[in-house]
Amino acid sequence: MKKEWLTVIECTPLAKGIYKMVLQGTMTEEMESPGQFVHIKTSAGTDPLLRRPISICDIDHTNNCFTILFRAEGKGTTELAAKKKGEQVDVLGPLGNGFPIEEAEAGESVVLVGGGIGVPPLYYLGKKLKEKGLHITSVLGFQDKETVFYEEEFKEIGDVVVATADGSYGISGFVTDAIQEKGLSFDWMYSCGPTPMLKALEASYPEARGYVSLEERMGCGIGACFACVCHLQDDPEGTSYKKICSDGPVFPLRKVVL
Ligand code: FES
Repeated sequence: MKKEWLTVIECTPLAKGIYKMVLQGTMTEEMESPGQFVHIKTSAGTDPLLRRPISICDIDHTNNCFTILFRAEGKGTTELAAKKKGEQVDVLGPLGNGFPIEEAEAGESVVLVGGGIGVPPLYYLGKKLKEKGLHITSVLGFQDKETVFYEEEFKEIGDVVVATADGSYGISGFVTDAIQEKGLSFDWMYSCGPTPMLKALEASYPEARGYVSLEERMGCGIGACFACVCHLQDDPEGTSYKKICSDGPVFPLRKVVL
């Protein structure tokens, strides 16, 4: 992990409120595991004070670049979205533990389930799983047609099913509806998205093997402030905990209380 001023190579809108940013710097050399994140100082001043955690969507080691996709919704991310090519951004990273891919074997099938801004980290994960020879189906959930992004990119790594909550594009409903409607079966499930979506997946597929990545408000991002603590499902007393930023953000299915 290092703190570095990275150079903006690209910053473009992808969908309603969603931006793609490519950053270049030596930090990229430390990025290996899909599902890690960077902690970005989105504003030059002290407002907002806290860095924003943003997951890594893709890594290009040849050019020392990586890609992040983010939603511009508050002051900080709106300022970040206004960055121009050649400008610099203050970044801490790579942080957290990503998706383990060692157990999944060539020939097995995997479903990647992403919701909204939880979709991006599944892209690099999908590329790594494809390299290993797995069959990939991506189920991507969005609010509506205007907020759909990266459908074509995910098609490059396997089959894609898109669901929208308002039914304006793809299957009408949530990702769980889409998995059922398509009758998907799979050996592994990897997921990232809002907590209600992750809960619904755990409830619908209680035997599934795989991992979830939690989207969480964070403070320090490096395990020092306890802002991101979560509890364990097999600890009814609630005495033990994990820090999402430094123990996660990826955990095995059914490991932590969602
Ligand atoms: Fe500070 Fe996780 S954000 S401990």
